[in-house]
Amino acid sequence: MSVIVAIGCRKGGVGKSALAACLASHYAQAGRRALLVDLDPQGNVTFGLGGEPGARGAAELLRGEEVEPVELAPSIFALPGGPERNSVEVSGLEPEALRDALKARRLGARFDVVICDLPPYSEHLERLGLVASGAALVPVVAHPFALSGAARILELIEHRRRARRAGPKRCALVQSMVDLRRGLDKSLSESLDALFPSTPRFSFRQDTSVAYALSEQRPLHAFDPRAKVIPELAEIAAWLDG
Ligand SMILES: Nc1ncnc2c1ncn2[C@@H]1O[C@H](COP(=O)(O)OP(=O)(O)OP(=O)(O)O)[C@@H](O)[C@H]1O
Ligand SMILES: [Mg+2]
Repeated sequence: MSVIVAIGCRKGGVGKSALAACLASHYAQAGRRALLVDLDPQGNVTFGLGGEPGARGAAELLRGEEVEPVELAPSIFALPGGPERNSVEVSGLEPEALRDALKARRLGARFDVVICDLPPYSEHLERLGLVASGAALVPVVAHPFALSGAARILELIEHRRRARRAGPKRCALVQSMVDLRRGLDKSLSESLDALFPSTPRFSFRQDTSVAYALSEQRPLHAFDPRAKVIPELAEIAAWLDG
């Protein structure tokens, strides 16, 4: 059975889309097919892997139209994001719309992993992604707004779980863009220990290869097979697979 994972944090610029692209790259280099569902009107993960934001993709799927994922690189497919995600039809959808559309088109069955890249500022689009997912990754950086964004999305997930509503059964924090030479990153670890003592936590370090791969619009493992962040991606994927 495929893993469906949502990557979200209400704070912008914490590395959600970079993590989504790099995890897809991890699965693809292991010979596993990854589908990125780009729920962000900015379309960054689509663009960062060479796709065209605004092409037919997530919005059309949500509207119940026939749509085929585009192959951006070997074994990396996407349902592109773009401004259409903000359309009136999409904003009126039930929270289960993405989950039901993925099932109806048997997309879960066709891919080994489905990765939903959530936007920073739309609770509606965020909820569509969470309800469709069995696991969630919440990237967080050393910034108070990022901590409160992470806390809010973790609370929402926990609330849904307690109420036995559809949504992630497992979630983990990802300390993103980590540079342990920075005092702020060290103290972030302590804050996360105190605030979220029982939430699993991973690291996704600051690595220039990640930024370059995205700007060259190539999967990380093809761009730099020796990138330092690669073993960390393997750890995150092992948790998702477990
Ligand atoms: N691990 C990393 N190492 C180096 N640079 C990174 C890393 N992760 C992200 N970046 C860079 O940080 C910037 C923000 O990352 P990204 O777009 O993934 O954040 P985001 O949370 O998806 O933002 P938004 O909220 O706008 O969707 C990008 O320029 C990206 O290349
Ligand atoms: Mg993003």
